[in-house]
This record gives sequence, C-alpha cells and structure tokens, in this order.
Amino acid sequence: MLNIILFGAPGSGKGTQSELLVNHYGLQHLSTGEVLRAEIAKGTELGKQIDALISVGNLVPDEMMLHLIENYIANQPKHSKGTIFDGFPRTVPQAVAFTALLKKYHMDAIMIDLMVDEQLLIQRLIERGKVSGRADDTLNTIRHRIAVYHDQTEPIAHYYLRHGNYFAVNGNYEMKDVFLQIKRIVDREGKK
Ligand code: AP5
Ligand code: MG
Repeated sequence: MLNIILFGAPGSGKGTQSELLVNHYGLQHLSTGEVLRAEIAKGTELGKQIDALISVGNLVPDEMMLHLIENYIANQPKHSKGTIFDGFPRTVPQAVAFTALLKKYHMDAIMIDLMVDEQLLIQRLIERGKVSGRADDTLNTIRHRIAVYHDQTEPIAHYYLRHGNYFAVNGNYEMKDVFLQIKRIVDREGKK
C-alpha cells in the first residue's frame, strides 16, 4: 500500500495529476476540496458555513478536516492499494494529527510536492475560472489562496522533509512530463 500526499499551491496540478495516478496505479483519490464543494452543493447548513470560507479563499477549521479524514481512514477497504490525499494536510496541526492517525492504523504516507512558479499558477487558475464555475477562481481570491498557502500550508513541506518522506517535483512542465517525474518516485517508493 502506498499513500501519497499530493501537495502544492492552488493550481499546481494536484487534481490533474491525481487523475493520472488513479488511472495508472488504481489508487483511491480523496480531494478534500471536492468533498467540501459537494457539501456546499447539497445546500446544508454546514455547506453554507463552508461556502462562506471557501468562496473567499480561507481554510475550513482543522477539526472539521480531521473528522473527515479519520472517518475515511477508519473505513478504508482492506484491499486498498493506497490513497492520494489531494489538499490534505494543509496546516501543521493537520499534518501532526495525520501522522498520528496513520500510525494508529499502521500506515504511512509520502509527500510529493508539485512546485510551480507563481505567475503560472495564476495564469492556470484564471484560465480554469472561465469554465470551472468555482467561486474561488477569481483573481483576488486566487491571490489570497496563494497567500494562505505560503502562510499556513507551505510550512508542512519542512515537516515532511524532516521526517524523510518528502519528494519535490518540478510542476512547471507539461502534464505528462510532470507525471513522469511523479511516476519515477512512486515506482521507487512503492517497492520499499
Ligand atoms: P482545493 O480544491 O484543494 O483547491 P486548491 O488547493 O486551491 O487547488 P486547486 O484545486 O485550485 O488546484 P490543483 O492543484 O488541484 O490544480 P488543477 O489540477 O485543478 O481546496 C479548495 C478550498 O477548500 C481551499 O481553499 C480551502 O478553503 C478548502 N480546503 C480544502 N482542503 C482543506 C484542508 N485540508 N483544510 C482546510 N481547508 C481546506 O490544475 C489547475 C488548472 O491548471 C487546470 O485547469 C488544469 O487543467 C491546469 N493544469 C494542471 N497541470 C498543468 C500543467 N502541467 N500544464 C498546464 N496546465 C495544467
Ligand atoms: Mg484541485
């Protein structure tokens, strides 16, 4: 089993590369952003609270995310080949709690960091915003999401680097070339 934390700024290609990984390795995919957007679409009270945060580019509370992840891990099928965690963990407290949670279930995870230049991130998200219908794909919110990423999320990379399970990938290239870099890491680490 190989669990992968697919890490990176908004627009770095986490969703895109997750899809390629699912197709190639048969891994499960958990995008916390997608789970939250599905809750918003249901129009529940919780969905409304989530919407108020996401639409302006702020993170939802750690407790909410940890509850979701704990449920997911506890209910993972026995035969699972592993999961791609796309968008989680996103704060240091989430990363610390996730390590403990994986340990409890005798699992671990590697982090793959998609590194992309800021101008390119903005360009990709503006382009996606023309068709995505995502409330957070507007220039001001994109800028805010990137600032939140630098402030609250990026420090996690150091946490994983210190724990020795961190791998960086140059995400500026074409999708298939980014995937080749990821594949090399997954093939090597999956054998261990
Ligand atoms: P989330 O849905 O995770 O959004 P994000 O991190 O901002 O990332 P995106 O989904 O925008 O980008 P991506 O990296 O998936 O890139 P994509 O592949 O789509 O989170 C949304 C919100 O939910 C957060 O802001 C927060 O409020 C909340 N949330 C989620 N998780 C949370 C957590 N754990 N804790 C607290 N709050 C949480 O690619 C982008 C575009 O670029 C696409 O159009 C794609 O086609 C294109 N593209 C991709 N790769 C390439 C390439 N190599 N070359 C050219 N184009 C490319
Ligand atoms: Mg995404």
